[in-house]
Formats: sequence, structure tokens, C-alpha cells
Amino acid sequence: MKVTAVLLAAGQGTRMKSSMPKVLHPLCGQPMIWHVMQALNSATTEKPVVVIGHGAEDVRKFLSDSADCVLQEPQLGTGHAALQAKPLLKDKTDLVIVTYADMPLLRGETFARLVETQRLNSGPFSLVTVFADDPRGFGRIVRNSDGTVSAIVEEYVATPEQQQIKELNVGAYCFKADWLWDALHRIPKNPKKGEYYLTDVVELAVKENLPVQAVVHDDFVETIGINTRVHLAEAEAAMRMRINREHMLNGISMTDPASTYIDAGVKIGRDTTIMPNTYILGETEIGDGNVIGPNSIIRDSKIGNRCKVLASVLEGAIVEDDVDMGPFARLRQGAHLKSHVHMGNFGEVKDSTLEEGVKMGHFSYIGNAKIGANTNIGAGTVTANYDGENKLPTEIGEDAFIGVDTMLVAPLKLGDGARTGAGAIVTKNVPEDTLVVGMPARPIKKVERKKKKKGN
Ligand code: UD1
Ligand code: CA
Repeated sequence: MKVTAVLLAAGQGTRMKSSMPKVLHPLCGQPMIWHVMQALNSATTEKPVVVIGHGAEDVRKFLSDSADCVLQEPQLGTGHAALQAKPLLKDKTDLVIVTYADMPLLRGETFARLVETQRLNSGPFSLVTVFADDPRGFGRIVRNSDGTVSAIVEEYVATPEQQQIKELNVGAYCFKADWLWDALHRIPKNPKKGEYYLTDVVELAVKENLPVQAVVHDDFVETIGINTRVHLAEAEAAMRMRINREHMLNGISMTDPASTYIDAGVKIGRDTTIMPNTYILGETEIGDGNVIGPNSIIRDSKIGNRCKVLASVLEGAIVEDDVDMGPFARLRQGAHLKSHVHMGNFGEVKDSTLEEGVKMGHFSYIGNAKIGANTNIGAGTVTANYDGENKLPTEIGEDAFIGVDTMLVAPLKLGDGARTGAGAIVTKNVPEDTLVVGMPARPIKKVERKKKKKGN
């Protein structure tokens, strides 16, 4: 049986007071509509159709080829919006899920339950409802004495009596496709707003004596719809707790989940502990047994196993195993720290590889460089990698010892076992096992290299 989703996303979202289309506002790192698409994915068999209108080009660009888009122009209500999918879907699907792109917390399981209910329904459609004390402006579900749904009454037309109804229309429906395409043409224009309301299909079914089934949902949080930025913040908090809970159930510890901010899609391995006030964002992957935070921000980075990342900021970085970092380390795009690197406070690394066991304890900037295994970068070392026009490379060999306050003026190569004295300004390549000092530094003698064990 073919099941296709029609996602309504053409509305302006006036109440957001934003120049960005409502459905692109992010929630845990992904636009609202992305979350809905994820949930629908598990309950449908075909590519979804998204009805776009306000900010159409931005929404289309974001969706790319994950959905087929149809334009609703002008926007004449949710019933009119659903109708726009008909030319694409007529005779192409058995069931149609219609839902709104501003309901990002609805889960795949809920849509699956809805589809299951409709499969068993002799009538033309089923819908999801929820009981709640706070109606949040949702449509009210009116039931017949036999329990079947007889109408959805929008809040602003509801009588005071109907306003007291606690059962609300969540905004997820599953239709027999043929019935839907026909019924959408028969929705009357709402006399007050001049729009065609999808919710009026209930009355069409009732007139034909066809049963409408309700899936009563018991988790109000899942049904938080977003009309204002206050709702957005509420939904984000709920989504965050959901993400954190899942990680904890998968074996990750969080000292304080309420101050742990993890984007949707982040992967974290077992026995990693996330300390408070930590942000793990974008496409980040973290392995097992790490301690991350407190006070760290990690974006689009990869961290191996058994690392410590204390009060540090990582962006576009790769960190291998047993690295310890911080407090106040900063890794920028293209930083690659191999195993057993130690990076202390106030270090910045950009577009550089630090091979195994490199130590960089204090106040240093390493840019466009390759640092060989077990080399020591003294406090205050700076790669002068920019001549005002180009970024220039620095290469330091293994077991080198860069003295405090060394300026490495790129392009530059220092051989294995090279040493620089305190305050050296190095403008010329240094051969291996050679100590340079001064300003600019010049060779003064051959030195003997101490062999260190790898991986320390
Ligand atoms: C709607 C329902 C209401 C339900 C609530 C749940 C209707 C008439 N009302 O109200 O019963 O309780 O959702 O969240 O359906 N859209 C279009 N084209 C349009 C109008 C809207 O694509 O012409 C899209 C919007 O982008 C939005 C969705 O449909 O994603 C819902 O529209 P919105 O105005 O937010 O409806 P609600 O007032 O929340
Ligand atoms: Ca809404």
C-alpha cells in the first residue's frame, strides 16, 4: 500500500514576526520542517510533497530533492493548500497523510499509528487528537453521542461551550486518497476569513455518514505547534530533552541535561560524560569514554575515544584518541590532533596537523602547520603564517623542541630534533638536531636528540 505525505508549509507565519519563512526556523540545529520530514519518513512509502508559498525559494532550496514541491499561490487556507498536491499525486498513492510543517515534535510512531488506524477504518480518514487543559488556539474536536468525530471547530468561531472542549485537533490526518481529492473541491469557503479549511472535511464525511476515526494521543508535548517564538523556545526545550534522554538511554552520562545542548543527528559513544553548559552541534561525532565540558562548544567535529575537552571550543576539527585539551583551547577548521596530543590553555590551532604525542601547553598559535610526533611547542610559540596575501606553511619534524616565545616565520621547515631557544625568531629552515637562537635565529651548534617513547 502506497502512503504519501503532503506537508503544508506555505503559510506566512505572521506571528513569528520574521523575514525567514517559519518552517526554516531552527530547532536543535535543524529547520522545523526537517524534523517533520524525518518523522514522516518512517511512516510513508513515497517521496513527500511539500506545499510551499511564503519564502518558497528558500524552502525549496533547503528541501532540495528530499521532496517534491508544489506552489500554493495565493495562500487560501489549509484545505486549499492540500488541494495543490492533487495534480502530483492523483492515482499515484493509496493513502495520504496531510500534516503541518509547524509541528516538529510529532514522532514517526505517531504517524505510523495514524496510518494503522486508517488502514482498519472503513471511513475516509483518521486524525490525531490530544486532551489538554491549555488549548493553545487549536481546533476543538466535537464528538457525536456515539463517540465518532462530528466536527473540528476553530477557536475563533467556537461557542463558549465549545471553547471548553479539552480534546484538540493536533493537525495530522490520514486520508483515502480518492476520497480526499474529491472532498477538497467541496470544502466551502469560510465566510469569515475567505479561506478553505482542511478541518471542514470532517463535516463532509459526516454528511455522507462515513466514520472519522480519532487516534487519541496522550503526550501533549509532542503536539506543541509553533506559531510564535515563545512556542519555538518551548518546542526547542522539549526537543532538547528528547535528544538528551535518548543519549542517556544509549549509555552517555550527563551531569545536567537541562544545560546540555546537543543538535539532532549528533553521534556520541558509550561512557562518554557530558558536563554542564556544553554545546555539541552540527555534524559532530564523538567516541567512547570521553569527558566533554563543562563549558565546551563543539561544532562539526570528530572526537575519538578517552579524550578530555575542558572549557574549549572546537569547530571543523578532528581529534583522535587520548587527547586532553583545555581549559580554553580552541581548534578551528582543519585542526587535526592525533592520539595523545596534549593541548593546554590558550592554544589555537587552525588548518594544522599535530602528530601523536605533541605537547602544546600554553598560549600558542599554530596555523597551516604540520608538527611531527612528540614535538614540544613552548609557551607563546606563534606560526607567523600570513604575509598579508597568502597563508604559508610551517613544517616541524619529530622530537623537536620549540622554546618559549618562538616566532616561526613561514614558509619554514624545521628538521627532526631541531631546537629553538627562548624568544627565537626563525626565518630560515633549521636542519635536524640543530639548536637555533636569537633574532633572527642562526645556527650555533649541533645538539643531541633525546629519544622519547611514542604515544606519551
Ligand atoms: C491549524 C488547524 C487547527 C489545528 C492546528 C494545529 C486548520 C484550519 N486549523 O490551525 O485545527 O488545531 O493547526 O497546529 O487547518 N498553510 C498553508 N497554506 C495556507 C495556510 C496554512 O500551507 O493557505 C500551512 C502553514 O504553513 C502551516 C500549516 O498550514 O504550516 C498550518 O497553518 P496555521 O495557520 O499555522 O494553522 P493553525 O491556525 O495553527
Ligand atoms: Ca500552526
